[in-house]
Amino acid sequence: MNALDTFLFGVYPYIAFTIFLLGSLIRFDRDQYTWKSDSSQLLKAGQLKLGSNLFHVGVLFLFFGHFFGMLTPHFVYEHFLDAGSKQWMAVISGGIAGLLGFVGVSVLLHRRLFEPRIRINSKTSDIVLLILLWFQLALGLATIPLSAQHLDGSMMLKLAGWAQTIVSLQAGAPEMLADAGWVFKLHMFLGMSIFLIFPFTRLVHVWSGFGTVAYLFRPYQVVRARRLNVPIGHNAPRQPGAGV
Ligand code: HEM
Repeated sequence: MNALDTFLFGVYPYIAFTIFLLGSLIRFDRDQYTWKSDSSQLLKAGQLKLGSNLFHVGVLFLFFGHFFGMLTPHFVYEHFLDAGSKQWMAVISGGIAGLLGFVGVSVLLHRRLFEPRIRINSKTSDIVLLILLWFQLALGLATIPLSAQHLDGSMMLKLAGWAQTIVSLQAGAPEMLADAGWVFKLHMFLGMSIFLIFPFTRLVHVWSGFGTVAYLFRPYQVVRARRLNVPIGHNAPRQPGAGV
């Protein structure tokens, strides 16, 4: 392991995740009016539905797939699912979701760059973000032929082991990537970097997207007490001709 690998896969994850959490908290606290997905639908709806829907379906599947796939310890599923079968499931489902997301983000990027009204209303961060997501999805798809070279699931177990070692704050994570190729490493570095820039972009809307689940469990909003035979807001009937 050289010093760069030790830094990128042993220290950088903590830097990126700390900035992601603290940065989001500070932005929410100080700058709530900028906390939005910055929809461009009013400027031009064309291509948005197709691009945005494909992208979001793909990327949300990949988000949860990575989360549970990487962080579930091997002993939890090894009794009913061997590593090779899990890798097949990941390659097929991740490949389909990755393709949907890649087509979607390509449409969104094309629209943002070549639609004059959208281009002129885009911040640099909007364009940089879409380019980074484009590369991240492309790199994710590029790992598939590499995974296909060792279908026993051994590399997948090492990558998951790295993620689990990092989140459980144990030492020795970078060493687990000794045999990982540069495509895997670049994909991981860019993924962590997307978390790092998250609070400075429109990506903050992802917190709110997940936060909407809380609406399923919240109590009904009470607007007024319910009283029978009493006109709304008044005790006596209105006089004819009286102002509003
Ligand atoms: C959690 C659920 C999510 C919800 C409810 C949501 C919702 C939205 C909405 C309403 C927009 C605006 C679309 C428009 O222009 O009208 C948007 C845009 C966007 N979202 Fe999400 N989103 C979610 C998750 C994500 C995730 C996980 C990512 C990526 C990691 C993401 C990346 C983006 C990007 C890059 C745009 C801008 C697209 C453009 O260039 O116009 N979103 N999202």
